[in-house]
This record gives sequence, structure tokens and C-alpha cells, in this order.
Amino acid sequence: MSGFETRWLDLREPVDHRARHTGLRGLALDLLDTAEDDKYIVDVGCGTGSTFRALMPEVAGRRWRFVDHDPRLLEEASKRHRQHDGGAAEFLQLDLADVRPDMFSRAALVTASALFDLASLALVESLAGHLKACGASLYAALNYNGVCVWSSRHDADDLVVAAFNEHQRGDKGLGPALGPDSGPMLNRVFEKYGFDVMMGESPWRFGSDDAELHAQFIDGMATAVGQKRSLDPLLLEDWRRSRLARVHGSTCEVGHWDVLAIAPRERETNKTDGQPGDGMAGGARSAA
Ligand SMILES: C[S@@+](CC[C@H](N)C(=O)[O-])C[C@H]1O[C@@H](n2cnc3c(N)ncnc32)[C@H](O)[C@@H]1O
Repeated sequence: MSGFETRWLDLREPVDHRARHTGLRGLALDLLDTAEDDKYIVDVGCGTGSTFRALMPEVAGRRWRFVDHDPRLLEEASKRHRQHDGGAAEFLQLDLADVRPDMFSRAALVTASALFDLASLALVESLAGHLKACGASLYAALNYNGVCVWSSRHDADDLVVAAFNEHQRGDKGLGPALGPDSGPMLNRVFEKYGFDVMMGESPWRFGSDDAELHAQFIDGMATAVGQKRSLDPLLLEDWRRSRLARVHGSTCEVGHWDVLAIAPRERETNKTDGQPGDGMAGGARSAA
């Protein structure tokens, strides 16, 4: 079990989808233009299938392989997407702690969202090796980058975010987690393996319509920080209450990176040298 609830994943999905970097989403879809019909999109850490929904309708008719270790989430993904617009779908219950080559058989594109901040450097290295071997590209969206900024300040914001980021680096079942470093580490490792890597910013933006998600995020942060025991509990509780009281009045931005790593062979056949657009960094290119 992963501990991720369907309710939480459903709540964040609209915010996730509007946060995605549109330029990178488009370039990821372009990669499929030249992929044979019997090639797969493999969504690792699929949850209930949010990435599939984020790429619809453009991926209608494609073959999907949904991979997760949590049987409840995989069952939910299967209920929602067993049949989809003429495409085929497979559902594999597998632990990414043990990445196997057959996970990626006939893969054209491997996708993930909100996964790599939970992952270790060893997993990213192993994945890059496997994807290079099978010539598949990676489109990894929504990797938390460690930046949380509210429109109205609380004196403890910086301390809480720093302690939360430390918590994010703890082991989540896949070894020491990359946490806020996941985007840059994906970039570095996949470049080392010869991929052409681009990064784009994909911040969550909570407004007054997202008060429920915002409140759950604050509660989750406070719980995680409480576990670290590095902050005065009274200060943390004051922060939590004060932030919760303002979810309707204060906006919040939570930074993420989307990463597209184009496999060397794919790059040659697609000649994808797109102009990615705003908020984009890639290889030697610097972030806007
Ligand atoms: C934050 S959720 C994101 C789910 C989905 N991609 C989305 O965007 O809604 C992280 C997902 O990674 C999966 N996951 C975590 N550790 C895993 C592991 N060791 N092997 C396979 N899946 C894992 C969880 O079960 C969960 O579905």
C-alpha cells in the first residue's frame, strides 16, 4: 500500500492538470506521432490514471500500461480506463524498487506524475539505463521543487517549508528520496545517459476555489514537519491554525518541475527540437 488515497488524488487532479507545463505536454505528445501503433505508453506510479486523463484526448487509441504497487489504486485505474476509445490497457502491480525490463517492453514513452520526489537517485539511474536500452523517452510531470510561497506571510513560513523539505528527503519506500531535488536530478542523470532533457515549471496555484486542497496540503505539511521534531510544536500549531484560517483569503504557489527526456534514438527519428516556451530549462539552456 502506498498510503495515497483516491480522494486526495482526485482532489489534486484539477490543480495538477492546470499546472502542467503546456509546452512540454505538447512535445511529449509529438513523440508519439512517429511511434508505431503497437507501442506502449507506460505510466509508472499511475495511481488512478491521472496522467492518462491529462493526455486525453490526444492519446485516444494508444496502448497504455498502468504500473503501480498499490492494488487499490490500480483497481481504481482499471475501473476507470480498462476500456478507452479503442486503445488497449494493461494494469501491472509492480514495485518500482525492483525495476524490471519487461515493465518497459515495447514502450515508446514512459510517463509519471508526482512520483520522482518520492524516488531515490538509484531508481532514477536504473530507469535511465532501462529506457536508454529500449529507446523510450520519459515525460515526468509535477516533481515538487521545494518552493512554497503564500500571498500573505506568516513568520514561520520559511522554517516550516525548510523542515518540510527535509522530511521530503526521507525514505518513502524507494530509498532516500530526492524530494525537492528530483527535477534537477532527473535532468542530470538522463543527460548523462545521452537523453535530450528539458525542464519546465509547473507550479500549483491555490486560489479561493482550491480551499479544500490547500487546507489538506497545510495539514499534511504540519504533520510531516511535526514528525521531524525540529520545530517548536507551539509555533508549528500557530502556523497551521493561522494558515488554515486563511485558505480562502491567501493564495499559495507550490513549485514543481516537469521533465521531458527524449531518448537518443527517438531524438534522431523525430528531430524534435521544439521551442518549449515559457518557464523552460533544458540541458545547457537556463530556466526562464
Ligand atoms: C503522489 S501519487 C501520484 C499518482 C498519480 N501519478 C497522480 O498523479 O495522481 C504517487 C504514486 O506512486 C505510487 N508509488 C509509490 N511508491 C511506489 C513503488 N515503490 N512502486 C510503484 N508505485 C509506487 C503510489 O502508489 C502512487 O500511486
